Amino acid sequence: MTYNILILPGDGIGPEIIEETRRLMGWYSANRNLSFSTSQDLVGGCSYEKHGAPATDGMMKKALAADAVLFGSVGGPQWDKLPFDKKPEQGLLRLRKDLGLFANLRPALCFDALKDASSLRPEIVSGLDILIVRELTGGVYFGLPKETTVLADGQKRAVDSQVYTSHEIERIARVAFELARLRGRRVVSAEKSNVMVTGVLWREVVHRVHDAEFPDIQLTDILADNCAMQLVRNPKQFDVIVTDNLFGDILSDEAAQLTGSIGMLPSASLGAKDAHGRQPALYEPIHGSAPDIAGKGLANPIATLLSFGMCLRYSFGRSEDAALLDKAVEQVLAEGYRTGDIMQPGMTKVGTAGMTDAVLKALDKLAA
Ligand code: IPM
Ligand code: MG
Repeated sequence: MTYNILILPGDGIGPEIIEETRRLMGWYSANRNLSFSTSQDLVGGCSYEKHGAPATDGMMKKALAADAVLFGSVGGPQWDKLPFDKKPEQGLLRLRKDLGLFANLRPALCFDALKDASSLRPEIVSGLDILIVRELTGGVYFGLPKETTVLADGQKRAVDSQVYTSHEIERIARVAFELARLRGRRVVSAEKSNVMVTGVLWREVVHRVHDAEFPDIQLTDILADNCAMQLVRNPKQFDVIVTDNLFGDILSDEAAQLTGSIGMLPSASLGAKDAHGRQPALYEPIHGSAPDIAGKGLANPIATLLSFGMCLRYSFGRSEDAALLDKAVEQVLAEGYRTGDIMQPGMTKVGTAGMTDAVLKALDKLAA
């Protein structure tokens, strides 16, 4: 079986970190009996420069046909002033929407070697292992109306709409409960049912799905603002957090920083399985395009490498191979290799390629 993979490096540090994923894929095809057929295309600002749009129909067609999409990052200051629908981020949002990638899995795991790199005390974060399940194709990101109008008195008025249907909430709740079964069997559902009717519906539907299908899972409701506070107060109380698109965006950045650096965390965006068991999937680091260090070979490739690990696990059913990569990363960090974002006194500073060299060497040793 050969997997058909679309690679979308994007902007900023995207191309240099995705290059490291290519090397990692090379290792897996040479050593672990996996075979990939890859193609590459533009997304984000670079696509706008060449085609006048952050995502083209041609690229979307390839994405729809791929077994998995590996995505780098999009955006940069040179595109900040573009009209809204031309912005680099719209390329990513179109991929999410058109591929139906409604479930965004964002694990926040604190590697032991990095517990001192967190802005929180080491005892608060050591051993941290949270999974944020973020709804990704609904809510205020896509709800209509979404517009800016000019009022009679000349003022401008802008509207974004938070919209959820019970179907959208049901399917994301199911994903969260199913994943909780493979972990600590605890789900916290975060919303703002005290002020938002979408929050009221969210809570109602999550409970309905829970009571009917997942009574073995412990379910707790939390208001999203309290969740943000609890994440810095005592993050280890959480196992799985399920939440909407916007709260998930914010809470996952917060959770990422708990682990020391946003440069460490991967993500998977998954759609619904079709009748043949095919599931659209996109894998990306949760950090952005970091224009300030782009092209310098300094970026931490670990989030991107681990995103490929999530691809092995979720798209190819290769949990053992994914676990091997997790172990290699853990070892490399324990051996003291550090990119600038996680550098600590007395450690060995490496760049993007140097970090990958170390990971590949660790994989060689683990597989020997
Ligand atoms: C993320 C990012 C995106 C989002 C941007 C780039 C559109 O912040 O994946 O968390 O807001 O969803
Ligand atoms: Mg974000």
